[in-house]
Amino acid sequence: MTGVVLNNVVKRFGDVQVIHGVDLEIEDGEFCVFVGPSGCGKSTLLRMVAGLEETTEGKIHIGDRDVTDMDPSERGVAMVFQTYALYPHMTVAQNMGFGLKMTGHPKEVIDSKVGEASRILKLDPYLDRRPKALSGGQRQRVAIGRAIVRGPDVFLFDEPLSNLDAELRVEMRVEIARLHEEIGATMIYVTHDQTEAMTLADKIVVLRDGRIEQVGKPMDLYRDPDNKFVAGFIGSPSMNFVKGEATGGKVTVPGLAAELDLSVNLPQDGRKVEVGVRPEHIELDAAGDTHVVELTEALGGVSYAYLVAPTGERLIVEERGDYRTEKGAKVGVSYPIDKVYLFDGETEMRLR
Ligand SMILES: Nc1ncnc2c1ncn2[C@@H]1O[C@H](COP(=O)(O)OP(=O)(O)OP(=O)(O)O)[C@@H](O)[C@H]1O
Ligand SMILES: [Mg+2]
Repeated sequence: MTGVVLNNVVKRFGDVQVIHGVDLEIEDGEFCVFVGPSGCGKSTLLRMVAGLEETTEGKIHIGDRDVTDMDPSERGVAMVFQTYALYPHMTVAQNMGFGLKMTGHPKEVIDSKVGEASRILKLDPYLDRRPKALSGGQRQRVAIGRAIVRGPDVFLFDEPLSNLDAELRVEMRVEIARLHEEIGATMIYVTHDQTEAMTLADKIVVLRDGRIEQVGKPMDLYRDPDNKFVAGFIGSPSMNFVKGEATGGKVTVPGLAAELDLSVNLPQDGRKVEVGVRPEHIELDAAGDTHVVELTEALGGVSYAYLVAPTGERLIVEERGDYRTEKGAKVGVSYPIDKVYLFDGETEMRLR
């Protein structure tokens, strides 16, 4: 069993604490994705698992081994970075086999492992080329191949696709999903990309300022966020939030025709709340005139309308197909009651 377990893991750089007691269990064979805003500690946490950063406090286990103080080479992990860092003077095959050669493996073993990795990654036609004669996607596949030949228990990926153009990203995303299916190894993957997180992950870990906000399956986080941060972070475009007031068991939102009669435990009367609703759940009412359409965007399959509420708050509405809403028009909005999320105005925790 080669799951990864973090117990109360802390990281300080000098006086600055960047990871604040993280507890996390990643199961054997699981695809775990770290997401969170820039600077929240995703790379640091990954590098601590890899052994590239010392762990200030706490314990890291890989399988049943305590690796907290082990060298990176002893941990059974292989890391793939955003920049592929291939050796320019070596061929693809030499690049992939280099690690094994350095550790004294015989040529037959290296050839067979490189052959296996290049089959999985469809790199056979390129084995004799040098990196400069490859596309970005092919180079990144070589970097992944270099990880595969080492036969690690755990693969660590730090934004491996962020240097690729949009089309290649999609292609490589599918390749990585296939790789995980075929190899079945535990993988930890850092990304900024919503689609990568949602589609690749068995489990998403949402980080903020060095702490875990929520852990769960992609669609569970999407449907059932614990707080406003997770609600706003998972899903693209983001969930809309408007300020409201909880009075007499109902929620009033300025500019919204009806009060919201939500079956949640509302705080005391007059308490400030935030109402969250996803772009795809807002319904536009052409007969209304409370909101102004500031901008519309037609993307083909979907369109977005950017609205300004009477309070000055901004809302994004997603519509299927071509846009029906005109820039400058006035519209009303409503949302189905069962699609509305409610958050405490102060703590930002979900009210259920
Ligand atoms: N060697 C270091 N010395 C001091 N501070 C560091 C060091 N490395 C990272 N940090 C700080 O730790 C925090 C977390 O950085 P980290 O690189 O883990 O963030 P990240 O979530 O990967 O961000 P990004 O999405 O931009 O890659 C940041 O505030 C960063 O400035
Ligand atoms: Mg990073």
